[in-house]
Amino acid sequence: MISIIIVSCSGGKHISKKLSRKLKAEYCELELKKFPDNEINIKFTKNISNKRVVLVQSFYDDINDKIVETLFAAHTAKELGAKKVELVSPYFPYWRKDKRFKPGECVSIQVMKKLFSVFDKIYIVEPHLHRIKNIKTIFPQGVKISVGKYLVNYIHKLKIHDILFMGPDMESSQWVKELTHGLGKNTIILSKERFSSKKVKVTLPKNVKIKKETVIIVDDIISTGHTMLETIKLLRKMKLKRIYCIAIHGVFAEDALKRLRKYSKVVATNTIPNRVAKIDITEEIVKAIK
Ligand code: R5P
Repeated sequence: MISIIIVSCSGGKHISKKLSRKLKAEYCELELKKFPDNEINIKFTKNISNKRVVLVQSFYDDINDKIVETLFAAHTAKELGAKKVELVSPYFPYWRKDKRFKPGECVSIQVMKKLFSVFDKIYIVEPHLHRIKNIKTIFPQGVKISVGKYLVNYIHKLKIHDILFMGPDMESSQWVKELTHGLGKNTIILSKERFSSKKVKVTLPKNVKIKKETVIIVDDIISTGHTMLETIKLLRKMKLKRIYCIAIHGVFAEDALKRLRKYSKVVATNTIPNRVAKIDITEEIVKAIK
């Protein structure tokens, strides 16, 4: 049996200690230093040779720096004699850039595929699979970790009886479906047009009637928050004020969280650490990597 060592990268500290405890595995933090010119220097602080090295990295905030850090760590681990080098990524970026929208653009997820081929296994919590339906199309060594049931449990505990689930766009319907399957409630899926990262328009299906319900808007990612904010605007026009925004990955770029909290209760899972990361999905990662 190869012994396992959980290595926390800079974006994995909020989850990796808990992971190692639950797995009864050795733990270490990757040392990360930055030179004045922004080059980085990483160092494993424990012996990793002949071990199954599991790097934990959630790509939020300075995601491009975190990509370099993770790749440096993976190559170094191999060079230092690790038996296997794996990645647990509670939030993995660039899935949304799965197509060339404009001539000359980079299809980012295809580049990520090449860069991350160094890993023997990659575990990703709820990758944004939309046009690409299967994680294995990008990462043959990839494992998708689904966490819908944790959202169901959370909502169940809120004890709200008159819930209307709302998906702000077609892609969100897969997560909405999972929740309603567990909670058996009404749903509405909106259509969304995106003109730029901060300009979106959401539209209700025709002839839809909404009662005075509590609306839970569900999406996999909240990034700039504009998808949620536009949906909230639409609901407020209909005098609906009991609104929750629930997401798996709370990216919350710029002041997105502050703006959303003005009009709704906001909850996310702990794939990314922040003040609304109230749904703990660590257990599902443990099950996947055991
Ligand atoms: C995209 O299709 C995703 O499911 C989300 O709807 C999107 O990432 C939300 O982005 P934002 O918060 O920037 O509107």
